[in-house]
Amino acid sequence: MEPYRSRVVEPIRVTTRAEREEYIRAAGYNPFLLAAEQVMIDLVTDSGTSALSVAQWAAMHGSDESFTGSRSFEKFQEVARELFGHRHVIPTHQGRAAEHLLAQAVLRPGDVVLANTLFATTRQNFEEAGATCRDLPIREALVRGSDHPFKGNIDLKALEAELAAAGERARLVVLTVTDNSRGGQPVALANIRSASELCRRQRVPLWLDAARVAENSFLNTLRAPECAGMTARQVARETFALVDGLFMSMKKDGLGNVGGVMALDDDTWAEAIRHRLLVSEGIPSAGGLAGRDLECMRVALDEMFDADHLAYRIEATAALGQELEQAGVPVLTPFGAHAVYIDGRAFCPHLPDEQLPAWSLSVALYLESGVRGWETGNVMMGRLDPATGQWRWPELDLLRLAIPRRVYSQSHLAYVARAVGELFERRSEVRGLRFVYRPPALPQFIARFEPVGGG
Ligand SMILES: Cc1ncc(COP(=O)(O)O)c(C=O)c1O
Repeated sequence: MEPYRSRVVEPIRVTTRAEREEYIRAAGYNPFLLAAEQVMIDLVTDSGTSALSVAQWAAMHGSDESFTGSRSFEKFQEVARELFGHRHVIPTHQGRAAEHLLAQAVLRPGDVVLANTLFATTRQNFEEAGATCRDLPIREALVRGSDHPFKGNIDLKALEAELAAAGERARLVVLTVTDNSRGGQPVALANIRSASELCRRQRVPLWLDAARVAENSFLNTLRAPECAGMTARQVARETFALVDGLFMSMKKDGLGNVGGVMALDDDTWAEAIRHRLLVSEGIPSAGGLAGRDLECMRVALDEMFDADHLAYRIEATAALGQELEQAGVPVLTPFGAHAVYIDGRAFCPHLPDEQLPAWSLSVALYLESGVRGWETGNVMMGRLDPATGQWRWPELDLLRLAIPRRVYSQSHLAYVARAVGELFERRSEVRGLRFVYRPPALPQFIARFEPVGGG
C-alpha cells in the first residue's frame, strides 16, 4: 500500500479522445506543449512534481526570508554538510543551474569530460563551455533485455583508457546516479569506488550527478551483496565519501518543486562557482531560492531516505513494469526506481527511425488515454551529422513513463498499464511523425511535428 495518505486533493479533468486529438494537433504533436490540464495522468517527469509532506510544509512556514545569512540557509547547510561530508555547500535554483555554474567556473575549451552517461542539460552546459564530453556506459546498458543489476555502471576499462588518452585535458569525470538517460539504471557502489581510484590516480576530480542518489543507494541495498543490511543513507554516505563533489537537482529524490545544491571541498573551485553564482543566480546563501525552499530541501534530505518510501516506490514502479511485460510490451529491464521505459523501435517495428518511433508512441498513448510520457530517444538524442548530412540515432529509442513521488495511486498506474497494453494490441496503428521544426538545442521542449502522410 501507499505509505502515505492524502489530505489535499487535486481534481483530474477527464477528457475525451476527440478533445485530445484537438489538443495534440494544436500542440504541434509535441506532448511537452500541451497544457497540464489537458493531461489526465502526467508521467512526463518525476522532477519538481512530488507531493510535499506535512513536515516540509511546516518547515516552510517557519522560514527566515532575510536577504543574506538567513537561519534557513544555516540550517540547510548544517544538514547538507553532515549528509554529503563536503565543506562547501552551495544552493542553486535547480540542477541545471548547478551544472551551468560548474561548467562556467571550471571548464575551458579543449577540456575532456568523461561520464557513465551525462543527462541532456549537463552535456549541453559542458559542451557550451567548450568541453568534449564522452559517455562510457557498460555494454549491457545498451541491451534492452540484459539483466545486469547495475546497468548504470561506467565502463572502467574505457574510463582508464580515455583518462590516459586525454592526459592533461581530462578535467572531470561525472557519474550520473541513477542513469536517467539510459533507463534509470543504478550504479554499483563498487563501480563508484573503482572509478574513484582511477580518478585519484590520474588526479582528475570525480563528481556525482546526485539527482537520484537515494534511489540509487536503495537499489544497492537490494542488489549489491556488499550493501546487504545497510540503509540507503549509509550507502549514500559511502558514495559521497568517494567523490570530490556533487551537483544535485533537488526536484527528484530531493522531493522539492524547485531547488538544487552543490557540495565540494576544493576552495578554488568553490570560490569560482560562488563568483559565477553571484553574477547570474543570487547570493551564495540562497542560490536564487527563497528561505522556504531551503527549509523544504532541508527536510527532504532526511525524508528521501525513508525506507518505507523507497521500498514502496521501487515496488510500485516494478509492478507497473511487470504488468507491461506480461502484456508483451517491450520494456527495459531490470526496472529502476523512477520510471518504466518502453522500447519505441520494438513497439513500433513498422516505423523507421526517421518516423521517430518512441515519440510517435508517446503521442499515440496520449490520444488513447490522456497519459503523457517523455521520449528519451531519437528526438532528444538524434544528431544530424554535418559532414555526411545523415542522422545519427541513439542506441535506444525509449518512451519513459516517469512516476512522480507520492502523487499517483496504484489505481492510476493500473489505468496506465491497461492503456499501454491495449495500445500494444493495436500497435500497427501507431502513426509515424516527422519534424516540422527542430531547434538546434534541446529539441524535445519546443520542436513541432506532423503525421507522416498528413492528417
Ligand atoms: C540526471 C539528471 N541530471 C540533471 C537534471 C537537471 O535538473 P533540473 O531539472 O533540476 O535542472 C535532471 C533532470 O531534469 C536529471 O534527470
